[in-house]
Amino acid sequence: MSILKVRKYPDPVLKRKALPVKEVCDADRRLIDDMIETMKASDGVGLAATQVGVSRRIITFNPSPESWRADALINPAIIKRRGSESKEEGCLSLPGVNGPVRRSTYLVVEGLDIKGNPVCYEAKGFLARIFQHEIDHLDGILFIDRLNPIKRIMAKRSLKKEAK
Ligand code: NI
Repeated sequence: MSILKVRKYPDPVLKRKALPVKEVCDADRRLIDDMIETMKASDGVGLAATQVGVSRRIITFNPSPESWRADALINPAIIKRRGSESKEEGCLSLPGVNGPVRRSTYLVVEGLDIKGNPVCYEAKGFLARIFQHEIDHLDGILFIDRLNPIKRIMAKRSLKKEAK
């Protein structure tokens, strides 16, 4: 396992829409192991393949940072959503910024596990937020894109400063 380089804003790969995984292969499983290792090393709760420069629809997540239990979801798709709540988010690709993002509070998410078997998650609160944030990454959407215009301008300004 190895720790991968997390792409930072404004790396163009972050704006790219990731492609569905047709068949889950060993290379995907290796990527997932590395993504989980990378997430752990950077104290992240979620990571999208996009963030390590791979435009494939794969996410990893760790809903309980206290008891490490990371997992992966391939081709995740939200099939049901309910509720709405605004909470602070941050992102490993956007160091030093956070802001309030409105997200659904309850989701049903379908996808494939690392063996390629169909799985379905019912997610609430924190995990539901992680799923929405990471699936956004697969669509080339960053959480700052969901901030109100003034907060977005401020976030971009501080990112530019950080990049210098
Ligand atoms: Ni992120």
